[in-house]
Amino acid sequence: MLGAAEDVRLEISVGCLGVLWCAYNVVWKGETTPLFGRQLPMVNSKLALIRTFGCQMNERDTETIRGLLQQEGYGFTDNPEEADLILYNTCCVRENPERKVYGQVGQLQELKAKRPGLIIGICGCMPQQKEELPVMLERLPHVDLFFGTHNIHRLPELLHRVCTTGERVVEILDDSDEPIEGLPALRSNDFKAFVTIMHGCNNFCSYCIVPYVRGRERSRTPEAVLQEIRILADRGVKEVTLLGQNVNSYGKDLKSDIDFAQLLELVNEVPGIQRIRFTTSHPKDISDRLIRQLGRLDKVCEHLHLPVQAGSNNVLRRMNRRYTREYYLEIVEKVRQEVPGVSITTDIMVGFPGETDDDFADTLSLVEQVRFDSAFTFIYSPRKGTPAAELLDQVPEEVKKERIYKLIEVQNKVSLEINQSLVGSEVEVLVEGTSKSDAQMLTGKTRTNKTVLFAGTRELIGELVKVRIIEAQTWSLVGELI
Ligand code: SAH
Ligand code: SF4
Ligand code: F3S
Repeated sequence: MLGAAEDVRLEISVGCLGVLWCAYNVVWKGETTPLFGRQLPMVNSKLALIRTFGCQMNERDTETIRGLLQQEGYGFTDNPEEADLILYNTCCVRENPERKVYGQVGQLQELKAKRPGLIIGICGCMPQQKEELPVMLERLPHVDLFFGTHNIHRLPELLHRVCTTGERVVEILDDSDEPIEGLPALRSNDFKAFVTIMHGCNNFCSYCIVPYVRGRERSRTPEAVLQEIRILADRGVKEVTLLGQNVNSYGKDLKSDIDFAQLLELVNEVPGIQRIRFTTSHPKDISDRLIRQLGRLDKVCEHLHLPVQAGSNNVLRRMNRRYTREYYLEIVEKVRQEVPGVSITTDIMVGFPGETDDDFADTLSLVEQVRFDSAFTFIYSPRKGTPAAELLDQVPEEVKKERIYKLIEVQNKVSLEINQSLVGSEVEVLVEGTSKSDAQMLTGKTRTNKTVLFAGTRELIGELVKVRIIEAQTWSLVGELI
């Protein structure tokens, strides 16, 4: 049905845009309708620029925001000078992304003074921090619109209010009930897509702001998730990544007794989808049944992102992670048994309050013992309102830096060794684009989520190809087409 609506619109003349626009809205609203990166053939009177910070959830939210704006007649630009609307979709998980937003939005003051009609908005996680919002309102007086992740669907109305009243609009909701369905999305990629399966988080790790800003866990129904994935598959999407802060607890809040392992089974049956990824898995909620499914379901990729955060039981307990080092190692063992060739990646934090040299040594030894394929490493960043930020024994910045350098050094050595062991092997690659540094080289991802560079032509972008690995680097592999 949607395909028909879009095809008709390709032929319309500018004169009848109004009528068709209404028809299009009727056809389109009421179902989650990925529109893909394609621009609609509209004469856009207004242009929007959206900057996105943070995790994949925010990237997915930006696709919805773009879909909503497109319905309102906006086109898109990367140039602030020609934008009518500049929107920052923000993250507050650490201080750094917050600082960037203050810096970049602060600089827009000049542009706003030159063009008072420019609308500047801030959305996402940052304004949902109760204590930060008043600071933002004061420090960024030229920002017209603030809203959060729970009321993205209200963007058209909020924008309308800014335009008609000329006043600043601030609408932040504490939480939302059931996930809102049926919103449009302008997808950023034609062959791979993020699909949010649940919102929020119930875990309250003591360092983390996410549960405070994103609210409690709310799973989308399996019907809604599958409908979105079927539409994506019909449009040629080959790879979906299921998103949630803790996908392993998917379904616990639903009336039906579905769990994440069952959801994977259902997604595995969608024709056209060839690869299934998911993130993030919390170690405390990964069940034996789920681990077995990972090995059994053919479309589920051999990659598990399993954030460990720390190697010391003392630190893990104070982080409120609710597992021990020994339990984590046991899971890794089981996963390796059930899923041959699996790659395991992780998130690790250094400098959590009270982390001693011995605690940090435990993290290093865990990294050496597990041999992660790669790791995202972070310096602990105190977040206002979280229990850990109140702890008195904060680790000095110098010590945190020394520890992260050491951690990266140890992890890089392991990553390179693992990659070197892959030289000579044949892998399946989903071709994602051309290399930034060399347009003759294509880049893509293996099922194990490793980046591979190889010579090839642009027609292969979006295709699954076979590649032989000929060279290994720390963060990527070099191969040749077979
Ligand atoms: N839900 C996911 C993580 C989301 S946040 C999970 O539990 O694994 C992504 C990563 O940011 C976390 O895994 C953690 O390593 C890091 N992080 C979260 N809060 C942080 C903080 N206050 N300082 C530094 N890193 C943090
Ligand atoms: Fe944050 Fe922990 Fe929830 Fe992940 S599981 S989002 S680290 S509170
Ligand atoms: Fe950041 Fe919000 Fe994601 S705080 S990590 S954008 S959930």
